[in-house]
Amino acid sequence: MRPDTYARLSEGTIQVGGVFLAELADRYGTPLYVMDYETLVDRMRRYQTALSQVPSARPYYAGKAFCCRAMVELVDREGFGLDVVSGGELFTAINGGLDAAQVLFHGNVKTRAEIEMGLEVGVGAFVVDSLDELRRIDAIAADMKRLAPVLLRLTPGIDAHTHEFIRTGRFDSKFGFGMVDGIADEAVTLALSLPHVELQGFHAHVGSQILEAEPFLATAAALLEFSRRWFDQVGFWPKVIDLGGGLGVRYQEIDQPPDLGLIVAAIRKQLETYTPTGQRLPKLVLEPGRSIVAEAGFTLYRIEAVKQVQGGKQYVAVDGGMGDNIRPALYQAAYTAQIDRKPDGTAADIVTVAGRYCESGDILMKDVALVDPRVGDLLVVWGTGAYNYSMASNYNRVPRPPVVLVNRGETSVWVEGETWQDLMRLDRPLTTVESVKA
Ligand code: LLP
Repeated sequence: MRPDTYARLSEGTIQVGGVFLAELADRYGTPLYVMDYETLVDRMRRYQTALSQVPSARPYYAGKAFCCRAMVELVDREGFGLDVVSGGELFTAINGGLDAAQVLFHGNVKTRAEIEMGLEVGVGAFVVDSLDELRRIDAIAADMKRLAPVLLRLTPGIDAHTHEFIRTGRFDSKFGFGMVDGIADEAVTLALSLPHVELQGFHAHVGSQILEAEPFLATAAALLEFSRRWFDQVGFWPKVIDLGGGLGVRYQEIDQPPDLGLIVAAIRKQLETYTPTGQRLPKLVLEPGRSIVAEAGFTLYRIEAVKQVQGGKQYVAVDGGMGDNIRPALYQAAYTAQIDRKPDGTAADIVTVAGRYCESGDILMKDVALVDPRVGDLLVVWGTGAYNYSMASNYNRVPRPPVVLVNRGETSVWVEGETWQDLMRLDRPLTTVESVKA
């Protein structure tokens, strides 16, 4: 929930990474995204430690959770690969100095230009989502005289208990090749027959913010059973089994994520059980996004208004909202918040934290307990490191906040905040038909 370096001093003020939140707000303004270096690195190393139980395994950080140049550099330094889902993420990876061979190119739609770019730079593999895409990659690779490494994204029909919008493993999902309707088999047959693709293995990602171990083990079993059937039929054995991301984090006290080490230990056993004698254990790939960045990040807001409306409801309005955090509006996501000041009283008010955007649905938190919220206070929302910055927008022409890293009492900017001038950068003056003609 809170970063590992969180400290609340006796006078009630909060430090993270050895830096006072008030100092951060003074220096960079609010709203502000903050990332705690120690927490980030700790979460990455937990993956490396857990995966060291398997002879061949590698974590690929899912860039969609939070992607910028510095993050790519850190991912590289910590020995992770990177999962990208667009030309823009791939471009960022390359600009961050990451070797393209360390990249897995995901996404259910990859345009021709994106596939060409992926082949040009030599991505580690394309994760293919449809028969059309498979044929298209083969054709483009043929034109470019390349061999495209591919994984097939399979849909095992596993129903992870998470919000409908982030559930992806069910049979009726828009993602992947269905494993029960024979499409997955058709995809393997096609992949094995196409001359310019090399089938390296299978992938599935069944959902996100998963707080149980079972869906991961069920996914591993489904992919391995499928692989074993293909081995027994035609002798094809995958080099890679990629189980995607999805491990949940603590947004609130009640959230209890499962133990990663135990999950990996169980998967190792499954790999050993299913691998045919004489074949190598497939390389195990995990693609964590949220569980790397969520708890390292938080957002600082300034309380701009506190008001009581008819019926006694109390609104606390802050200077950010759905532009910097769309998750509550989109997924009913819940967070934990705190005020950076010693409260005068002890009794908490039950309040609704409202954003600044012109939309009734721009509510950051419903019915949360805040002790003595006042105009001018700094409000911290914990756990915003994943899918906040990466899903931010300029709705209402509000510039996106900067991202600042804290570590051992020092700060550094990872992403500059936008300015009003930045908002005008791509705008052009009105040209009417008449003025174009003239
Ligand atoms: N791999 C694949 C193929 C994925 O589709 C995803 C997430 C991940 C890995 C990383 O999953 P994670 O470890 O972060 O759960 N915007 C939503 C989450 C969408 C997740 C999409 N795919 C949210 O804010 O909750």
